[in-house]
Amino acid sequence: MMAYMADQITDIADMPRGGPDASWLDRLLETDRLEYLDRDDIDDEVKRGIVTALDRIGTVFHEHDRNAELVLREVADIADPKILELGAGHGALSRKVLEQHPTAHLTVTDINAESVVAMAASDLGDHPRASVGLMDATAIDAPDGAYDLVVFALSFHHLSPAQAAQVLAEGSRVAGRMLVIDLPRMPSLLHIAKLAVMAPLVWWPFAHDGLISSLRSYSPSALRALGAYAGLDVDVSTNPFDRQVLLARRRA
Ligand SMILES: C[S@@+](CC[C@H](N)C(=O)[O-])C[C@H]1O[C@@H](n2cnc3c(N)ncnc32)[C@H](O)[C@@H]1O
Repeated sequence: MMAYMADQITDIADMPRGGPDASWLDRLLETDRLEYLDRDDIDDEVKRGIVTALDRIGTVFHEHDRNAELVLREVADIADPKILELGAGHGALSRKVLEQHPTAHLTVTDINAESVVAMAASDLGDHPRASVGLMDATAIDAPDGAYDLVVFALSFHHLSPAQAAQVLAEGSRVAGRMLVIDLPRMPSLLHIAKLAVMAPLVWWPFAHDGLISSLRSYSPSALRALGAYAGLDVDVSTNPFDRQVLLARRRA
């Protein structure tokens, strides 16, 4: 029996980032090396610098606006939606949703204590419709069905396949829908070209993490396999040059 089939995965921990059907070349283009953001031995100041750069670059390229649009679309039919953001980092996505939805309540969280302290000290900490807190996406501290939507943006690739499947299961336990927005996994030859362009910049912590992110990004077939493993219905929309979006729902 094949080890990997979209609906029948025997060992999710070993699934390549390129998915069950990944080519041999794609399988070479991945790493277990952690991003600085995920390492305990890296100075908090370096990590804050990376999170600040993510916020600025997301603002310049309107990523936060585009991600907020996806969130707002998912809750368009819900009167006063309760939304949980995991891995919020700087909180820009939740901030946009709060600006654009008059009654949404946002729980804005991250696993990184420094990021949580910084978000709590920002306007989000005083916002009447926001709560800021520490949360591990793989073990969400909330009862079943506590939220209408869970969103996890640009963070999924930080997790191993087993952790990623666990996040899908947890997100879909605490909310009817879970939205994962993440980097695309490029076709291998383009991926190599992208890595070659990024490699000379790895002295810059943001580029270091960007390069590792690229190697750790999941392909559409990997996302589908993770959803199937978690026992969920998933829709994946993808474009190798843009974000990919996964919407997970519990099976009826
Ligand atoms: C690349 S940043 C993305 C920040 C922000 N969501 C954005 O779109 O720019 C990844 C974030 O995921 C967080 N993260 C990593 N593992 C996590 C986990 N297990 N649970 C919650 N957050 C996690 C990191 O602390 C970091 O803030």
